[in-house]
Order: sequence, then structure tokens, then C-alpha cells
Amino acid sequence: MILRTPRLELREMTADDLPALRAILQDAETMTAYEGAFDEEMVQAWLARMRDRYRDDGFGLWAVVLSGSGEMIGQCGLTRQHILDDDVIEVGYLFNRAHWHRGYAAEAAAGCRDHAFAALNVERVWAQVRDTNIASMNVAIRLGMTVRGRFMKHYRGVDMPHLAFAVDRPAVS
Ligand SMILES: CC(C)(COP(=O)(O)OP(=O)(O)OC[C@H]1O[C@@H](n2cnc3c(N)ncnc32)[C@H](O)[C@@H]1OP(=O)(O)O)[C@@H](O)C(=O)NCCC(=O)NCCS
Repeated sequence: MILRTPRLELREMTADDLPALRAILQDAETMTAYEGAFDEEMVQAWLARMRDRYRDDGFGLWAVVLSGSGEMIGQCGLTRQHILDDDVIEVGYLFNRAHWHRGYAAEAAAGCRDHAFAALNVERVWAQVRDTNIASMNVAIRLGMTVRGRFMKHYRGVDMPHLAFAVDRPAVS
């Protein structure tokens, strides 16, 4: 296990998580900000990319499971990204729609933010958010982030305006 929060545990994803992963990545509403649901090939590529990230970086988007049942309800974690001309660490979050609005994304993402500061020793954690994704902006705000800039992302053949949110490592008092 990578980290634990009051209600959740975060661990690496494996092929056993494919059904839970499909429930997230193949849901059109969940994937609105990614320009729609993924097909099976894209789901497999997503998991393979995360497994590569675990191997190469030691981190990636992890499975978020409920502490009691072990049910995988989302993905949250840290990835290397290039934002506003800088190589940075981003916290990302995507949850199964059946579990939205219970504070799970904010809780898991806060755990990842703190893990980045404590275990990876980074000075700043970022979140890149499509300008239409209000739910994601509210998670970023909840993490103590502010907007640092805006940029265009080109993904699946579409120009997507994005906001770059970030929070700085707290000063030690
Ligand atoms: C973004 C997402 C992860 C939020 O998950 P969640 O578990 O419902 O979020 P939380 O319950 O932790 O809510 C965190 C904050 O966001 C707010 N929020 C959540 N969903 C919202 C919505 N649809 N509209 C506006 N605000 C929303 C909550 O009110 C809360 O703010 P508060 O603490 O001030 O009340 C979820 O909507 C999702 O998986 N979306 C699809 C994937 C995605 O777009 N990921 C982000 C890519 S950048």
C-alpha cells in the first residue's frame, strides 16, 4: 500500500482492477473533460502507462479503495507532467460516478499532496484542469491550490483551454 487516509487506501493498480477501471474510463459523463469515454484499447493503454510510471518513477495514478470493503472507487495519484514550460509533479483524480460528492476525491488528493511534500520532497504540487471542469477546480481549491496560469492542451484532436493550479509546500514553523 502506498498511503492511507481516514476512509481510503491507495495502492498500485493491476490487471485485476480492469473492471473497476473500465467503470470509470468508459463512462461518458465521467470522461467529459477527456472528450468522452475510452474504448477497450485506450483502457489497456492507460493501465500499461500507469504500470510503466510505477516502474520508472515509483509513482503514478494509484487505485483508491474503500478501507472497509477494498472496493476500488477511483484513481488518484502523482504523475510527472510538463506544465507552463516546467517539469512538475501533478496530482490527478478520477472517481467512479457512483461515489461522487462524498469528499473522497478531496481526501485522496490531500493524501497524495502531502505524500509529494513528505516522501518525494517536492516544493510545489500542480493540477491541470480543463476550463470547463468545475468539479475538478473545486477539488484543487480544496487542496489549497491557486491558479498559476493558463495554457492550451491538444488531446484527441481537440484544443482544450486549461488552468494550471498549484500549492506550495508549507514553510516549516
Ligand atoms: C472531479 C471529481 C474527481 C470530484 O470527485 P468527488 O469525490 O465528487 O469530489 P469531492 O466530493 O471530494 O468534492 C470536492 C469539492 O469539489 C466540489 N465538487 C464536487 N463535484 C462538483 C461538481 N460536479 N460541481 C461543483 N463542485 C463540485 C465539492 O462540493 C467539494 O467542495 P467543498 O469541499 O467546498 O464542498 C469527480 O467529479 C470526477 O471523477 N470527475 C471526472 C474525472 C475528472 O474530470 N477528473 C479531473 C481531471 S482534471
